Amino acid sequence: MTATLIDGKAFAATVRGKVAEHVARLKNDHGITPGLAVVLVGEDPASQVYVRSKGKMTVEVGMHSYEYKLDAATEEADLLALIDKLNNDPEVHGILVQLPLPKHLDEDLVINSIDPAKDVDGFHISNVGLLGTGQKSMVPCTPLGCLMMLRDHHGSLSGMDAVVIGRSNIVGKPMAQLLLGDSCTVTIAHSRTKDLPDVVKRADIVVAAVGRPEMVPGDWIKPGATVIDVGINRIDAPEKGEGKTRLVGDCHFDSCAEVAGAITPVPGGVGPMTIACLLANTVTACCRANG
Ligand code: GUN
Repeated sequence: MTATLIDGKAFAATVRGKVAEHVARLKNDHGITPGLAVVLVGEDPASQVYVRSKGKMTVEVGMHSYEYKLDAATEEADLLALIDKLNNDPEVHGILVQLPLPKHLDEDLVINSIDPAKDVDGFHISNVGLLGTGQKSMVPCTPLGCLMMLRDHHGSLSGMDAVVIGRSNIVGKPMAQLLLGDSCTVTIAHSRTKDLPDVVKRADIVVAAVGRPEMVPGDWIKPGATVIDVGINRIDAPEKGEGKTRLVGDCHFDSCAEVAGAITPVPGGVGPMTIACLLANTVTACCRANG
């Protein structure tokens, strides 16, 4: 391996430390404790793991954590009523509804019913519009974490060629907006992109967010490029024993690390930064709510 490892786990611990200091000041100087409400509908195992981890870290940095676990068959009206209650609760500064939602619930309707000022995911249509027009908004946590690591590694990103693979509303599109905001030349590639290997090969920065295990091989990467791997995919690992699995990213780590200048590992790269940014967004929401 020749690439520098971008240690998201260590970086996230530093960010959480700063969040904890901020929370302590809000408590001591202003008597305010930021609060984050997380709503989980149904029993999706991956979502349960994420929600548990978010709750634990929220408490660790000194904030209040409110968890709402609703039955998979919850009616839309009941979920909207809960969101309305949280919107009007002054102790709740951030609201996150874990996605994906069960099929019978209208995800757009649910997300857009969250008060944009409490939308710590940055998914509400007003926050999407504010980000797209370069105005102050809530910024989606995963792309924000990626941007922080890129800025930390490179300093200025101005003029760099960036390729984002994946066009989701959660990662791909907001990531492209953020890179554009930092004056990168941005390409969004996706499943219909022609000559994807050639498109990726032009990039100084590759952000892979497609959800396909080890899809990007090292020979797609320009020598010295920075690779940010957003994917978290569980695959079979018979080499570890029968029935065993392991986590891999959207990039083939070993071959990409031979060519890249810097790369994030999976696990321990983007994942921890996402939660750290969620906590930071909650503090931001709390500060804005209290002037
Ligand atoms: N599901 C996967 N990633 C996310 C995220 O960042 N926020 C929410 N609310 N749900 C998710």
